[in-house]
Amino acid sequence: MTRIFSGVKPTGHLTLGNYLGAVRRWAEVDQYRAEALFSVVDLHALTVEHDPGRVRRLSRQAATLLLATGLDPEVCTLFVQSHVDEHARLSYLLECTATDGELRRMIQYREKSVSARAAGEGVRLSLLTYPVLMAADILAYGTDEVPVGEDQTQHVELTRDLAVRFNQRYGHTFTVPRATRPEVGARVMDLQDPTSKMGKSHANGAGIVYLLDDAETVRRKVMRAVTDSGQDVEYDRDVKPGIANLLDLMAAATGGNPEELAGVYQSYGALKKDTADAVVELLRPLRERHAELAADPGHVDQVLRDGAERARGMARPLVDRAYRAIGLLPAG
Ligand code: AMP
Ligand code: TRP
Repeated sequence: MTRIFSGVKPTGHLTLGNYLGAVRRWAEVDQYRAEALFSVVDLHALTVEHDPGRVRRLSRQAATLLLATGLDPEVCTLFVQSHVDEHARLSYLLECTATDGELRRMIQYREKSVSARAAGEGVRLSLLTYPVLMAADILAYGTDEVPVGEDQTQHVELTRDLAVRFNQRYGHTFTVPRATRPEVGARVMDLQDPTSKMGKSHANGAGIVYLLDDAETVRRKVMRAVTDSGQDVEYDRDVKPGIANLLDLMAAATGGNPEELAGVYQSYGALKKDTADAVVELLRPLRERHAELAADPGHVDQVLRDGAERARGMARPLVDRAYRAIGLLPAG
C-alpha cells in the first residue's frame, strides 16, 4: 500500500497557504487513499530563534487544527516528531550521506540565513542540516509520496538524492519518495506582497490569512489585498500577481479554475468580494471544529500518544536496518 508522509512546523499560526498547499489534501484525499502519517515537526521549529513556551503552545495548536481540518486518527497516524526518536537517529546517518555543498545550495537555507544575519542573530547549524532531518522524517517510514506546497520541492529532491546514494553505497534500504502538489494553491502569495509566499511569520500579518482568524478579519484582509495596475481581470502571474493570487484563492476555495474565473469578473472589486466570501465560508467549519477540540486537550494528547506509538513501531525496524547497513555493530 502507498505510504504518505508530510509535516508542518510549529513556527507560527497555520495559514491559508498551509491549508491550500498541503493540509486540505491530507484530510480530504490522502488519508483515505494510502497509509498516511502526518506530523507536527517540532524539531524543525528550533532551527531559528524560538521561544520554548510558544513552540509548545503552537505544537498543540497545530495538532488540534490538523484534527479540525478532518484528519481522522482512526484512519491516519498523527503525531509530534520529537516523540519518535527515530527521526533524530536516522538524521545522523543521513548527515553522513549528504555533503555540506548540497546543503548550502538549498534556497530556504540561503534566504533564512541572510535574514538571521541581518537581524544580528547567529545562524544555527541546524538551519543548514534541516533538510537532512526532513529527509529522515520521510525516509524513516518507507514513504512513497510527500504531499507538500511548491516551496518544499527542492527539499524532497534532496531526500531522493540521499535515498539513492545510501542505497547504492550500502544496499537497498530506502524507498525513493516523490513530492505531490495540489493543482491550485501550491503557492499562495502574501496578500500585501503578492510576489512573496504567504508565510507564517512575515513581519506584517496584514497579508496573511490565519486559519483561526475570525470572519471579519479574513474579510478585511482579502478586501485590502494589494492589486495590480489596470482594471481587467486577467490570470497572469507575472504581470498581475495580485489578481492571479485572488483568482487562485477563489478557484481553490470554490473548486473552480483560475483562468476560467478570470473571464467571469468585470472588476477587481467584485472579484475581491467573492473571494472574501469564499474564503470565509471555507474556514468557518474549521474554526468551529477547532473550538470544540480545543475544549478537550486531553483528547488531543491521547491522539498524539497513540500516534507516536504507531509511528515508532513503523520507523524502528527500518532505521535499525539502516544502522546495520551503514556498518554499525548491532547492540545484540
Ligand atoms: P510550513 O509552514 O513551512 O511547515 O509548511 C507546511 C506545508 O504547507 C508545506 O507543505 C508547505 O509547502 C505548505 N505551505 C506553506 N506555505 C504555503 C503557501 N504560501 N502556499 C502553498 N503551500 C504552502
Ligand atoms: N520542511 C517542511 C516545511 O517547511 C516541513 C517538513 C519537515 C516536512 N519534515 C517534513 C514536510 C517531511 C514534508 C515531509 O514546510
